[in-house]
Amino acid sequence: MVKFLDLKKQYLGIKEEIDSAITRVIESGAFVGGSEVCAFEEEFAQYLDDRSNALKALGVANGTDALEIAIEALHLPKDSVVLVPANTFAASAEAVVRNGLKVQFVDCGEDYTLDLEDLRSKITPQTSAILVVHLYGQSAKIDEILEIARQKNLRVIEDCAQAHGARFNGQCVGRFGDIATFSFYPGKNLGAYGDGGAIVSCNAELLKHCEEIAHHGGLKKYEHRIVGRNSRLDNLQAAILRVKLRHLESWNIRRREVAKMYLEGLKDCESIVLPHIKDSCLCAWHLFVIRVKNRQAVMESLKKSDIEYGLHYPIALPNTPAYSNVPFIAESKCKNASLWQDEILSLPMGEHLSDLEVLEVIKAVKEAVCG
Ligand SMILES: Cc1ncc(COP(=O)(O)O)c(C=O)c1O
Repeated sequence: MVKFLDLKKQYLGIKEEIDSAITRVIESGAFVGGSEVCAFEEEFAQYLDDRSNALKALGVANGTDALEIAIEALHLPKDSVVLVPANTFAASAEAVVRNGLKVQFVDCGEDYTLDLEDLRSKITPQTSAILVVHLYGQSAKIDEILEIARQKNLRVIEDCAQAHGARFNGQCVGRFGDIATFSFYPGKNLGAYGDGGAIVSCNAELLKHCEEIAHHGGLKKYEHRIVGRNSRLDNLQAAILRVKLRHLESWNIRRREVAKMYLEGLKDCESIVLPHIKDSCLCAWHLFVIRVKNRQAVMESLKKSDIEYGLHYPIALPNTPAYSNVPFIAESKCKNASLWQDEILSLPMGEHLSDLEVLEVIKAVKEAVCG
């Protein structure tokens, strides 16, 4: 079987390091708010921003909380509108709505990130922010987005849940907007053994405010300056993430090798649309997504060859029941996202894949598409 993701294999490759980190935390008896969390926050911020050291990180319970808290901390005007990609995981839009703000969906371009023409056309006086998702491991067109935001006085939130270690013009994503968020859901390029997330920002005040929100409204125990909530990265997850962070670059390099093999092996199939990677982007290849008109045949061929696959995402957010009733977005067409939801197909991707397995996937896809 060719697995889409193989976390057991990954664990066995770093077993000693992980086991010793887990034992260290259990023996310390400190499970919440311990030294592992502080160390991970520092190491993760340093990894993302080794040039200026200006970036700071805050561990939280998951990537959805990270987004919700980051948006809350920005204090966007009540009922204002946040631009969100139509093709992303639901959490990106939930975080906006849960903050009492409105979502306006923006279509995706050929690189599956925000389409700039559609983005520009959807800015109104009510727009307060752009939520940028670096989808599938590829950075969005962040330089142009920042310029649009500057001209229109909009805040920029980067959702980097799928882009740990992805770079735009040599700089890791998460460093560009006002604030950025990460998920450490187990299947991510950097994943915990449970839930986890982080908020990062170069604005120390803003990050402190996030900390207050995430820690019951105060920076010290029993001091509640504001009404907060509980969202913490725990010590065990932080210790595991510290180990895995040391391997992230080499895992991402292997992902790039796998992607290169797919791109080479499938390049002659005219009916397959391969990922379009911008020159400015060093992709983290969280997912390798192709587009095919006869997706059903390809899925059947993969199934027959015992190869796992995924759909990211089978229904674009504006077409889901959760968002179809929001009158404000009724006029939002998001043509590409709506069309492509029936064509996208995610092939197995990760450092767990051998060359032989990648070739097997290529063969099965080709058989279905080219006969
Ligand atoms: C783009 C994106 N944003 C946010 C999230 C939410 O992260 P979490 O599952 O850790 O809450 C995910 C997770 O899949 C994601 O892919």
